[in-house]
Amino acid sequence: AESFSAERGGRPGAARLLLVVTDGESHDGEELPAALAECERRNITRYAIAVLGHYLRRQQDPEDFIREIKFIASDPDEKYFFNVTDEAALNDIVDALGDRIFSLEGTREDNESAFELEMSQIGFSIHLLEDGILFGMVGAYDWEGGVLEESRRGRIIPPREAFQGEFPLELKNHAAYLGYSVSSLRLPGGQRLLVAGAPRFQHKGKVLLFQLDPAGTVTVTQTLMGEQIGSYFGSEVLALDLEGDGATDLLLVAAPTYLGGQSREAGKVYLYRVGQDRLSPAGSLHPEARPQDSRFGSALGAVPDLGQDGLAGAVVGAPLEDGHRGALYVFHGAPGTLVPRHKQRIEAAALGWNLRYFGISVDGRMDMDGDGLVDVAVGAQGAAVVLRSRRIVRVSVGVSVEPGAISVTRRNCQRGGSGAVCLRARICFRAGTRSRSPGDMDIDLRYNVSLEERIPGSRAAFDSGSRRLLQRRIELPLGRQSCIRVPFHVLDTSDYLRPLGLTLSWALDEATGPVLDEASPTSLRKLIPFFKDCGEDDECVSDLVLRASADIAGSRQSPHVLRKGRRRMLVRVELENREENAYNASLWLRLSGNLHFSSLVLQDPGAVKLECSALGGHRWRCSVGYPVFRSHAKVSFTLELEFSCSVLLDRAEVTLEAT
Ligand SMILES: *[C@@H]1O[C@H](CO)[C@@H](O)[C@H](O)[C@H]1NC(C)=O
Ligand SMILES: *[C@@H]1O[C@H](CO)[C@@H](O)[C@H](O)[C@H]1NC(C)=O
Ligand SMILES: *[C@@H]1O[C@H](CO)[C@@H](O)[C@H](O)[C@H]1NC(C)=O
Ligand SMILES: *[C@@H]1O[C@H](CO)[C@@H](O)[C@H](O)[C@H]1NC(C)=O
Ligand SMILES: *[C@@H]1O[C@H](CO)[C@@H](O)[C@H](O)[C@H]1NC(C)=O
Repeated sequence: AESFSAERGGRPGAARLLLVVTDGESHDGEELPAALAECERRNITRYAIAVLGHYLRRQQDPEDFIREIKFIASDPDEKYFFNVTDEAALNDIVDALGDRIFSLEGTREDNESAFELEMSQIGFSIHLLEDGILFGMVGAYDWEGGVLEESRRGRIIPPREAFQGEFPLELKNHAAYLGYSVSSLRLPGGQRLLVAGAPRFQHKGKVLLFQLDPAGTVTVTQTLMGEQIGSYFGSEVLALDLEGDGATDLLLVAAPTYLGGQSREAGKVYLYRVGQDRLSPAGSLHPEARPQDSRFGSALGAVPDLGQDGLAGAVVGAPLEDGHRGALYVFHGAPGTLVPRHKQRIEAAALGWNLRYFGISVDGRMDMDGDGLVDVAVGAQGAAVVLRSRRIVRVSVGVSVEPGAISVTRRNCQRGGSGAVCLRARICFRAGTRSRSPGDMDIDLRYNVSLEERIPGSRAAFDSGSRRLLQRRIELPLGRQSCIRVPFHVLDTSDYLRPLGLTLSWALDEATGPVLDEASPTSLRKLIPFFKDCGEDDECVSDLVLRASADIAGSRQSPHVLRKGRRRMLVRVELENREENAYNASLWLRLSGNLHFSSLVLQDPGAVKLECSALGGHRWRCSVGYPVFRSHAKVSFTLELEFSCSVLLDRAEVTLEAT
């Protein structure tokens, strides 16, 4: 009875109500008669509910318990005493209680059982219409709810009966909360529909799409139903106009307390595509699948041109994530819909402040910093955070190399004291945006240029700086091209089959400022081929002419017989290339078993290189001028061969072949 004292806000003359819900007997029963007498004296009406589950499960006799509870309840017991067999059955008596309690206080004399528009809580939700405001009135008509339009047409309040078709009395729809959320959408034909959510309708929630005429007559064109009890379907609605052409493309309906896996309060946002005159389901959005409460969909916001591609996106608050610190999900638009996979999850935990319930409300309609991009304001407990949109830029890069191919044969410069092939890469950058008003700004781009060469065996190097990797930055004005030149050179190389690779990679400074478009490439590879110098067709047709003469020679008919003491013979060889360049030319040498390779003496050691290696079985291969035995080049050398002393009773044979 203390609770009803004036110090605690009790008003004289107001009805006083006490509700006792218990599943067991009291421990201070001896004080009960005095307490009840006091209640009687102070006109406190007492409802008592006995929950018998505890007794029934233990098969105990609840007689004493029931007697005590009936004693507590006001008389007559039929009106003030309830019993339920189990805890869940409590739901069944909520409606009956509601009826009796509502009529105790606040109702008008002429209708004791209904509040009508008292307790309406008008403004619980509001939505701006082109010519006025649509208000939600969750508390109207005994919390069945309602809406009110205040516009050029005047003030329109649909009566309770206007929604009767959707909220029939026999369903005992106490507290459907119509008007918990309100919105409007425009069909492709230009017709406007009002939208109102009733998240407690049959405990599953419902969204009404309707027209309202100035007399307050409601024409419901379509209803959308929730699918899960307690999910609060319709507590938030969002009409999304993707292209900004005035016609709504999507309606988003949130069910923030939708239970996901492991009975977590995941939340879910349903998408409906707006057709000619009807909406049809078009998938749903979800939070990240983590074992945590999320309440995804507690707030919905549209952000025009979020992806800077002309399409609106949506932001969805999930205030219970990360231990009630909260997170905001960002979804980008696609033609006619939203990309179901979120583009970004912004978590309060990462923002650095000690935020709680970040994402409880959200709005993305203003450009707060004047950069031409819409920013997003996000509500948290006792705080609001403005998230700035960053510009999305695309960087296109072109690389050209002069000359376009590396000549194997013609050295055009000196590097490090020897002949080299010098080349120059011209690299051009251009930064642009997808949005219509790019504005003036410089982009700070970091880039690397590298020659993909292994060490050792590297074939090329940059003329200045590091030999194979240059790390640089450039200030790029938006919309204009900037070029740089990078000189490099190719050293003497034997590997001319694999083209030389030049790789460019680039990135923006990630911390602040603009971000790189995901669709924009971040690297480029340019292959520079080696050029064989074989005429127009670059096909090398060589003609190797081999001439050899020995200082002793014989044939089958007239063999040359060696005298004792003769130990060696000399073979003079001349190889000439009479046609185009010969690549990887070889000279093959085979000796009979009684001959040994002793030495090879080049006539002009500076001209064409000759490198011989034994293949086994008295065979040798000499590479001629590797990699290239040039057109019209000639090589002459003397082979010195030794006879083996033991096997002289055989023919000695020398075979030479050039390929
Ligand atoms: C209790 O109700 C009676 C009859 O309605 C009234 O006369 C009396 O003053 C009320 N007592 C209190 C304490 O409000
Ligand atoms: C509980 O209530 C029902 C119906 O109101 C009644 O039939 C039943 O006897 C009650 N049980 C007890 C234990 O009072
Ligand atoms: C009182 O409200 C009920 C329920 O809405 C309605 O059926 C009845 O007509 C109302 N009575 C009066 C007198 O307004
Ligand atoms: C450039 O190369 C360095 C060293 O390998 C690397 O750390 C950096 O990320 C590269 N930068 C870009 C833009 O590729
Ligand atoms: C050069 O020719 C030799 C013998 O025909 C061959 O084994 C080798 O792979 C060739 N080298 C190249 C680079 O083509």
